[in-house]
Amino acid sequence: MAALTREEINFFLDSAEGFLEIAKRPVKKVPALRGKTVVNLFFEPSTRTRVSFEIAQKRLSADAVNFTASSSSTKKGETLLDTVKNIEAMAPTVLVIRHGAAGAAHFVAARTSAAVVNAGDGRHEHPTQALLDLFTMRKQKGRIEGLKVAIIGDIANSRVARSNMHALRTMGAEVSICGPGTMLPPHPEVFGVKSCNRLADALDGADVVMALRIQKERQGVATLPSDREYATFYGIGPRSLELTKPDCIVMHPGPINRGVEISSEIVDGPRSVILQQVESGVAVRMAVVYILAGGDRE
Ligand code: CP
Repeated sequence: MAALTREEINFFLDSAEGFLEIAKRPVKKVPALRGKTVVNLFFEPSTRTRVSFEIAQKRLSADAVNFTASSSSTKKGETLLDTVKNIEAMAPTVLVIRHGAAGAAHFVAARTSAAVVNAGDGRHEHPTQALLDLFTMRKQKGRIEGLKVAIIGDIANSRVARSNMHALRTMGAEVSICGPGTMLPPHPEVFGVKSCNRLADALDGADVVMALRIQKERQGVATLPSDREYATFYGIGPRSLELTKPDCIVMHPGPINRGVEISSEIVDGPRSVILQQVESGVAVRMAVVYILAGGDRE
């Protein structure tokens, strides 16, 4: 997201608008990418991203092929580059890649003739998540510019936070981040965001609250005494929303740890747009795959 301009972000969001209504049709399919092959290379677990990319590709009539690292020849020692080169020999148009190493998608993109979509690379970026988050905000609030967005949680280890900080600042939103000191980036000024230690400071007057999971799988050492302590100081619950604007929406990219970073009451309550984010994900990923595949839309 760091490389995208405001015009480019708007282009993806506007394109996704056109794909949203396909989900409402009895036959949820257009022939836009007929004859094109998209391979989904997932080297890390995923539910929402993997399934929504596959649904997006199928709705565009692309041939969607799923590669899962745990049942692949990477288990026999094959490298990422050899894996990609072998798949490239089968003539895919687009590769969608999720990998635990920051820069993996960039590395692959520089070494293949297929278009590459980053579906999450380590702590670095998750660009289609940020696009679907912005798409959801724009749908709910009618704009992105000027919105006060509070991102709460393990910011330092979160690719979702990083991509959202870049995208939201590019689009003119005001962003506050908050979490324990051990989970905040050392130089928030690089992202143009306000860094807060107290939850109340970040939530004050917010239009959007985005709660994030603690990325235990990316933390080398314990960064907090216990989940219970985290929930007490940084968990989003009904009292948190007394500090925000009355029409504030609550977002979460998933997967959720209920009762830790967010209470069930909020997840399932009227302010939550968490499932709308998932719905947006299919339309946004249709737009991304369609644009990168250079398809024709009827
Ligand atoms: N938000 C997100 O990336 O979820 P998954 O890890 O389930 O794909």
